[in-house]
Amino acid sequence: MNTPAYANVALVGFMGSGKSSVGRLIARSLGGRFVDTDRLVVDHAGCEITEIFATRGEAYFRSVESGVLRALLGEAGLVVATGGGIVTVAENAGALTELGYVVWLDASEEVIWERVSRNSNRPLLHTENPRETMRRLLEARNPMYQAVANLRVDTSTLTHAEVAEIVCREMRAAGK
Ligand code: S3P
Repeated sequence: MNTPAYANVALVGFMGSGKSSVGRLIARSLGGRFVDTDRLVVDHAGCEITEIFATRGEAYFRSVESGVLRALLGEAGLVVATGGGIVTVAENAGALTELGYVVWLDASEEVIWERVSRNSNRPLLHTENPRETMRRLLEARNPMYQAVANLRVDTSTLTHAEVAEIVCREMRAAGK
């Protein structure tokens, strides 16, 4: 990966911010390896995320998520898409910073709602009023994304390819 100043790239941001799709494009462009912490958690637990939340609860999910993140430390050349709630565990902020260049993929509340309401695989939004749950989570988490990020990209009106291009460009600039 031609980014000498940072060992890896980590993408943080709310559900529906495009972390996995954009991460794959960045990995292709930089020649890095794409990994997705949600996928690593599923592999570890042996079942899908909705099932993990339903049968073992969020605390279990968070502890596995923190473990898979920590296990990536020491690697290089990774583009890591993270779950939207990874920043809610305090120790993960340090791990993300240690991992590499942290990019916050942000979007307006309306755009995020438009994206997340298209599918039902987000257990945290399985509530009576998912729109209000989303608003509350966004309000709590935005300062956490902000605190850990080296770069924020507002993806509201951008394609995944445009977002990936911006991230690669900013990384090159930051690596100088
Ligand atoms: C979560 C986001 C999900 C997944 C889990 C919890 C969250 O990942 O980790 O459902 O707390 O916001 P995505 O952000 O990839 O949807």
